[in-house]
Amino acid sequence: LASIELDLSSIEVGQSVTVKWRGKPVFVRRRTASEIEEAKAVPLEDLKDPQSDAERVKEGHEEWLVMIGVCTHLGCIPVGEAGDYKGWFCPCHGSHYDTAGRIRKGPAPENLIVPDYAFLSDTLIKIG
Ligand code: FES
Repeated sequence: LASIELDLSSIEVGQSVTVKWRGKPVFVRRRTASEIEEAKAVPLEDLKDPQSDAERVKEGHEEWLVMIGVCTHLGCIPVGEAGDYKGWFCPCHGSHYDTAGRIRKGPAPENLIVPDYAFLSDTLIKIG
């Protein structure tokens, strides 16, 4: 199937789930207030692939981060709640992503990819 729906109602603040979509892992994280604050506070000029936090989430649903869980370096699967920026860490060659999934350190050239998705309601998203 090209798209999938995911019920978010059982995911608590500070929790993540991984679902499979088009053969790839998709990370869905319900961010804590401090993760959101940290992501918003980063100046764009500090970023290798400059994108504001607002560009990576849906307006009104800032606590939800939805990203393809594949490192943009050579395709390993990063580990969550890890690395120097408390976001994701790719152990293959040491890429550190922040709490918005943006590349901050290491060889990955780009932020973790945000797929096409939409909120169908406050607790239901459709990916793809
Ligand atoms: Fe992630 Fe190389 S594949 S750092």
